[in-house]
Amino acid sequence: MVEHAALWLPTKRSRLVVGPAPSVAPGPGEIVIRARAVAVNPFDRYIQTMGDVITAYLTYPAVLGTDVAGEVIAVGAGVTRFAPGDRVVGQAAGLEKSRNKAAEGAFQERVVLLAHMSAHIPDFLTYEEAAVLPLGLSTAACGLFQKDFLALAAPQINPIPTGETVLVWGGSTSVGSNAIQLARASGYEVITTCSPHNFDYVRALGANAAFDYSSPNVKRAIIEVMRGRKMAGAIAIGKGSASACMDILAQGTGRRFVAQATPPTSFDNVPAGKGRWRKLVLAVARMLMGNLALFLRSYHQGTATKMIWAGSLISNDVGPMIYETFLPEALARGAYKAMPPAQSAGHGLTHIPEALEQQRRGVSARKLVVTL
Ligand SMILES: NC(=O)c1ccc[n+]([C@@H]2O[C@H](COP(=O)([O-])OP(=O)(O)OC[C@H]3O[C@@H](n4cnc5c(N)ncnc54)[C@H](OP(=O)(O)O)[C@@H]3O)[C@@H](O)[C@H]2O)c1
Repeated sequence: MVEHAALWLPTKRSRLVVGPAPSVAPGPGEIVIRARAVAVNPFDRYIQTMGDVITAYLTYPAVLGTDVAGEVIAVGAGVTRFAPGDRVVGQAAGLEKSRNKAAEGAFQERVVLLAHMSAHIPDFLTYEEAAVLPLGLSTAACGLFQKDFLALAAPQINPIPTGETVLVWGGSTSVGSNAIQLARASGYEVITTCSPHNFDYVRALGANAAFDYSSPNVKRAIIEVMRGRKMAGAIAIGKGSASACMDILAQGTGRRFVAQATPPTSFDNVPAGKGRWRKLVLAVARMLMGNLALFLRSYHQGTATKMIWAGSLISNDVGPMIYETFLPEALARGAYKAMPPAQSAGHGLTHIPEALEQQRRGVSARKLVVTL
């Protein structure tokens, strides 16, 4: 049997270790790629420390990772968009309940991808640059386009202005960088928040106005600039973002819906081992209280909010709309940028655990990428 190297999570809450993995052939609708670059996300860390809570269905040993770019080495039955040698980026689906397969995790040399969640990348984009895209792009797309979220018009290379505005709280995050670009590509104006040192960055992505989320006057300033605009809703990214977006939309005209990327409490400090239960119980209690507070807020304001699950577009029309129809052409024409910029976190699978730790310490308008 042919084997390749993978970064395994042997059991729940264990340490990541490099070891051999069987190289499987692609099934119908799948491709296999030789991974050349992977990006790390907060989600990967959460699965390692809290997988038994948030992905209780996951079978072990598991392979983490969602963001990968590389070259196609095999295509499965029915796949016509790709051929061996093609350069692609894709969202690895192995951690999804409907997939739950180690062969489909990104952190390994050979990755099985769903063809409809993969896109060609232009020659001018390196694998490292392209690997920043999938989870940030998919999370933003779920919040902006799914019918039970903002349900915006589909993104286009030449958007038709709608005259409406979307609020993207947390525009310099990986999710926010994609949300700004997608909303603009759908014909919406964008008001966003980030730290002042990222104002130029979010404007270059297409934001029409940027505000400092840590300013005590931020909500008032956004409500002021919203006057006379019709809002199409908000996507809330970052700590405290959902309640802020609800308060703002409650004062404006238009849709009062907040697509929520960040839960009301952070699980960043819950360790996989010693001291875990006390911190986990506290975090879960805070989460329940936070959700209750959001529910009461929405009830009193007449606003609504819903949590995004970034894998949901795999099984609806939004996945192909992004990865088949929009992204390949938009990248090739320079109408969509792979952002935030990749920041190298080393070469080889052994560098991924340190990249995850670096991610936990925090990044600003950067995405950590490990080349393979
Ligand atoms: N629900 C889902 O399916 C899903 C999927 C993916 C991600 N997420 C969540 O989405 C969030 C963003 O993830 P990511 O990978 O995009 O993050 P990231 O790029 O690692 O986030 C770093 C950025 O966070 C910004 N930031 C820090 N605190 C903020 C706040 N209070 N409000 C707004 N921005 C703030 C910083 O902006 P400045 O440097 O400008 O200060 C920095 O640029 C995380 O909470 C993550 O867990 C959810």
